Amino acid sequence: MNILVLAGGISTERDVSFATGKNVYEAIKKLGHKAIIIDPFMGYDGDIKGIFDADTDWSKEIEAVKEGNPDINAVKAMRDPKYKGFFGPNVIKLCHEADVVFIALHGENGENGRIQAFFDLEGIIYTGTDTTSSAICLNKGIAKEIMAYNGISTPKGIHIYKGNDTSNTIGYPCVVKSCCGGSSVGVTIVNDEKGYQKALDEGFRYDNEVIIEEYVKGREFSVGVLEGKALPVIEIIPKTGFYDYKNKYQAGATVEICPAQIDENKTKEMQMYAERAFKALRLRDYARMDFMMSQESGKLYCLEANTLPGMTVTSLIPQEAAAAGIGFEELIEKLINMAVARKNSQC
Ligand SMILES: Nc1ncnc2c1ncn2[C@@H]1O[C@H](COP(=O)(O)OP(=O)(O)O)[C@@H](O)[C@H]1O
Ligand SMILES: [Mg+2]
Repeated sequence: MNILVLAGGISTERDVSFATGKNVYEAIKKLGHKAIIIDPFMGYDGDIKGIFDADTDWSKEIEAVKEGNPDINAVKAMRDPKYKGFFGPNVIKLCHEADVVFIALHGENGENGRIQAFFDLEGIIYTGTDTTSSAICLNKGIAKEIMAYNGISTPKGIHIYKGNDTSNTIGYPCVVKSCCGGSSVGVTIVNDEKGYQKALDEGFRYDNEVIIEEYVKGREFSVGVLEGKALPVIEIIPKTGFYDYKNKYQAGATVEICPAQIDENKTKEMQMYAERAFKALRLRDYARMDFMMSQESGKLYCLEANTLPGMTVTSLIPQEAAAAGIGFEELIEKLINMAVARKNSQC
């Protein structure tokens, strides 16, 4: 098959997406398919004739994840200003030529459902969740409301909009998060009134909507769901601080244990919540739910659903899949096959 991997984009998770894209691309090649990687924003300016058959090693074109956030304005300035829309040169043409587009994007465009909506209109077959569910899940506030309605426990929280009343009725300690952020960008744990305004400013840098949540002190976990079925639970233990951008992507900064060392009932409860969230939020193919377990009460809280979770060999879902006996290439193949099955059902 000809498979186009979309990676990069102009969200704050651009660099992380390149890491996912590179790993996915390498797996696809090992599976014996023809593959190319394209950054949907920068596009491809060269000759596209026979591009899938050319002997190009696209992984070399991809940079490794850096520790900080990428400078998105600098990325935007790199593109020829004659291109006005989101998609760079030849992207749409190449997507049409591919049998499947593997969406290895993270964050706003990619995870917010707009690309999926465009692909649906164009008849382009792609991996992962559809447009509606992507849009819902990228808004942590809406996703929380749907989870709560379906009996999935989430931390108590409020929405705050830029320019409106921004008083904190949750109290301290709390967590301030930009509603549509990811990779912990725009997330601050606030201990007192003093840090609150700074945290709000940081949250509003990325979105006009911010959520304030009660801080759940305790252990952190994540549960992937593949085709509606929960994978083994993974525990996340940052060596210092919380699971912020640096601790997520800097090698060795966080210890991850899979299967998590917790009692069977808690494991089952978390997997049940993850599967219920998958269903309630209308997720498709795969997704990953983040959880906190209160140190005080042992109660579980679902923080969010990730529709396009990290997919490097060492990312959380691939580790969970490995614990369930599913290797990385097999996992990627499953995701591709799920997308292909939709193509066949449309014929
Ligand atoms: N209510 C909370 N209590 C304690 N820690 C939290 C809470 N919300 C978020 N965190 C911490 O912040 C991290 C990022 O928050 P999350 O809601 O998962 O957003 P994202 O991963 O999309 O940036 C979590 O992995 C967790 O370490
Ligand atoms: Mg998260």
